[in-house]
Amino acid sequence: MKRAIWALWLSTLLALAGWYGYRLYAGDELQAFNPGPLSAGHHQLEQACGACHLNPLGGGEVLQKACVSCHGEELKAAHDAHPQSKFSDPRNADRLAHLDARYCLACHVEHAPERTREMAVTQPDDFCVHCHARIAEERPSHQGMAFATCASAGCHNYHDNRALYEDFLVRSADQPVFQAIARIAAPASLADKHPGWQKPAAAPQADAPLERQTDAAVADWLASAHAEAGVNCSDCHQAQSAGWEARPALQVCQGCHAGEAQGFFAGKHGMRLNPALPVKLTPMRPQWSQLPFTAESAGHELGCSSCHGAHRVEQREAAVQACLGCHADEHSLAYQDSPHQQLWLAEQRGELPPGSGVSCASCHLPRETAEVHGQSRRLVQHNQNANLRPNEKMLRGVCLDCHGLPFALDALADPRLLQNNFQGTPAQHVPSVDMALERASSELHR
Ligand code: HEC
Ligand code: HEC
Ligand code: HEC
Ligand code: HEC
Ligand code: HEC
Ligand code: HEC
Ligand code: HEC
Ligand code: HEC
Ligand code: HEC
Ligand code: HEC
Repeated sequence: MKRAIWALWLSTLLALAGWYGYRLYAGDELQAFNPGPLSAGHHQLEQACGACHLNPLGGGEVLQKACVSCHGEELKAAHDAHPQSKFSDPRNADRLAHLDARYCLACHVEHAPERTREMAVTQPDDFCVHCHARIAEERPSHQGMAFATCASAGCHNYHDNRALYEDFLVRSADQPVFQAIARIAAPASLADKHPGWQKPAAAPQADAPLERQTDAAVADWLASAHAEAGVNCSDCHQAQSAGWEARPALQVCQGCHAGEAQGFFAGKHGMRLNPALPVKLTPMRPQWSQLPFTAESAGHELGCSSCHGAHRVEQREAAVQACLGCHADEHSLAYQDSPHQQLWLAEQRGELPPGSGVSCASCHLPRETAEVHGQSRRLVQHNQNANLRPNEKMLRGVCLDCHGLPFALDALADPRLLQNNFQGTPAQHVPSVDMALERASSELHR
């Protein structure tokens, strides 16, 4: 009798867990199980619980696996200053007593809005003390500093310190406010991207059925890089079948622009369309965000055409006008009165050499070297979150092309300059460059 009750209890439990798990994974009507809102970086995944809960019955290790599958590469590329491997070293074992930093969940819990700070951090802002309590003894320059200031305003980051390492600060310390040649890299040319490509001799001829050849579509296409490169109507509209597809899917673009699509899927514009998600979500819309957007953009769906248009596949309007068609927060609107925008307009008028201007895209969709199909290529980074937070990530890939490190570091640490889109000089000074210099010279004299 006892055994039968046990069996019944066990099978009911398993059935319940299975059902709960299936629902969690399948992603339908899940709000009932949601223990609380997700962090700001993940709010778009509210209908894709399975993105993190890879296995419905799994706990910590399973969640860790999910975090690493989406963020592992970026942390590795950032030379993560506190990687898991640092803490597997037995010499550091004692440090884990207070905080087991081998696990993402030690610092980034979800569904806990009441204790979630910026960047989904669920530790108090002085948590560095757990492991660096003796820093003032090791470095006299740090005496009297509060632990809450370690990671604020331009001194240290927990993961990404590429622009903040001591030797980098020392090397960059005497850079002037403006670099001698203040310019960003030119975009890659067609021949650069497709070695061996040659401009076709004859003018391109649209290959769509005549009834589809609307004046606007043909004119826009004729003026585009696609016509020049020999990408015809059928390459998009009849790519997946012989029949005419009125609205070619994003996968069609992806077929030829894998690198751009990969970036798009990794950031907030395209994360809902990431093919790696366990469920298919609809594209993101401005009305679902907490950020301020223009009223007209409310119903717009984010895809490649939101910035490029269907046939013009244009890059200049995509870099400013398209953004301002949607974004209407104080920082974005203020760009229109900034010195950077003046440079951008002067470049468009041909008064300054290419790359002298600073568009929204210069900062948020910078040109980078990326691996595509095993080849190294210069591409536009389409993940606008890749260098956004902590914002010192923008230094190396963007600001330092034109400004010296000390000035740019101060500018990025000034909340007023972030708000007014860099109109004016920084009001405060980040002391880390001076401290690094001081230490380097005292070591030299020792
Ligand atoms: C971005 C990743 C992520 C997504 C998406 C996500 N979760 Fe979670 N979830 C977590 C993490 C991390 C924890 C562990 C929290 C902890 O340890 O306190 C967790 C814990 C839970 C728990 C256990 C609650 C507790 O307090 O221990 C439940 C139930 C849960 N999630 C349900 C859901 C549901 C339902 C969805 C979809 C609506 C969802 N989760 C989406 C990351 C996620
Ligand atoms: C399906 C892929 C996916 C999974 C799984 C995932 N994330 Fe994310 N995460 C994203 C995307 C996309 C963003 C938004 C873009 C960005 O900020 O990089 C984001 C944002 C973040 C941010 C905030 C960055 C900011 O600027 O606010 C943190 C921190 C983070 N994730 C940590 C985690 C942790 C920890 C886990 C595991 C519990 C996890 N993520 C699971 C895709 C994922
Ligand atoms: C000991 C605490 C701690 C642990 C453990 C931790 N993080 Fe973080 N994480 C932070 C802090 C603090 C930030 C805020 C930015 C900073 O200071 O670098 C952050 C920021 C981030 C960001 C935002 C972007 C960036 O480059 O900073 C991502 C993504 C992220 N963490 C992912 C992860 C993942 C994935 C893991 C597990 C492999 C993890 N974190 C483990 C403390 C931690
Ligand atoms: C769980 C323990 C732990 C926590 C929490 C922690 N660190 Fe570390 N940190 C280490 C270890 C271990 C090293 C390796 C060097 C050493 O032994 O001091 C290190 C090294 C560093 C370095 C030296 C640079 C480098 O890349 O080698 C800096 C700077 C640093 N941490 C800053 C911070 C800041 C800022 C915080 C809080 C945001 C923090 N750490 C939180 C354990 C920790
Ligand atoms: C780079 C891919 C691409 C190429 C090349 C292309 N189109 Fe399109 N076209 C699109 C996309 C994407 C849309 C849908 C836009 C939207 O969703 O608003 C579209 C929409 C259309 C539409 C409106 C929908 C319909 O069928 O009524 C017409 C007409 C059209 N294209 C004709 C053409 C013609 C003619 C050519 C060749 C001269 C051409 N397209 C070349 C991508 C392309
Ligand atoms: C059959 C392959 C193919 C398809 C499909 C395709 N493209 Fe292209 N695209 C090209 C080639 C080739 C170029 C020219 C040079 C290059 O590689 O950037 C180009 C150039 C571009 C450019 C740069 C324009 C410029 O002024 O230099 C953009 C933007 C673009 N494509 C967007 C798209 C979008 C959006 C889609 C889907 C609607 C798409 N492409 C579909 C092959 C393709
Ligand atoms: C948020 C707006 C935006 C979205 C969405 C967007 N792009 Fe772009 N894209 C740009 C801007 C701006 C540039 C030019 C940046 C520059 O020249 O500095 C660009 C450049 C390009 C280029 C030419 C430069 C290069 O990388 O070789 C291609 C190709 C391209 N995009 C394809 C795509 C595809 C495919 C998608 C959809 C997966 C897409 N874009 C979505 C804004 C966008
Ligand atoms: C069709 C409307 C639309 C267009 C066009 C557009 N965006 Fe966005 N953007 C969004 C939405 C929606 C989000 C997601 C906000 C969220 O997740 O809450 C977003 C997110 C962002 C973020 C991340 C904000 C954050 O706090 O994580 C940045 C940065 C950004 N966009 C910059 C740009 C730039 C630069 C351009 C032009 C090259 C652009 N956007 C074009 C709608 C748009
Ligand atoms: C000189 C570089 C630069 C230019 C130009 C620039 N931004 Fe930014 N943008 C930043 C930095 C830095 C941040 C702040 C990141 C942080 O610290 O949170 C930011 C933040 C943002 C955010 C996130 C706001 C939030 O509250 O989360 C959006 C959206 C954005 N920018 C859009 C734009 C648009 C649209 C344009 C053009 C009209 C533009 N930016 C021009 C550097 C720039
Ligand atoms: C393509 C080159 C270029 C890039 C990239 C660039 N800037 Fe600038 N920036 C300039 C130039 C040139 C000026 C001076 C414009 C003028 O005074 O007319 C300027 C002006 C400024 C100013 C205003 C200075 C003043 O005295 O009014 C600030 C602040 C600033 N930049 C910060 C930044 C930051 C932070 C970044 C990176 C996120 C950045 N810039 C990226 C070229 C650039």
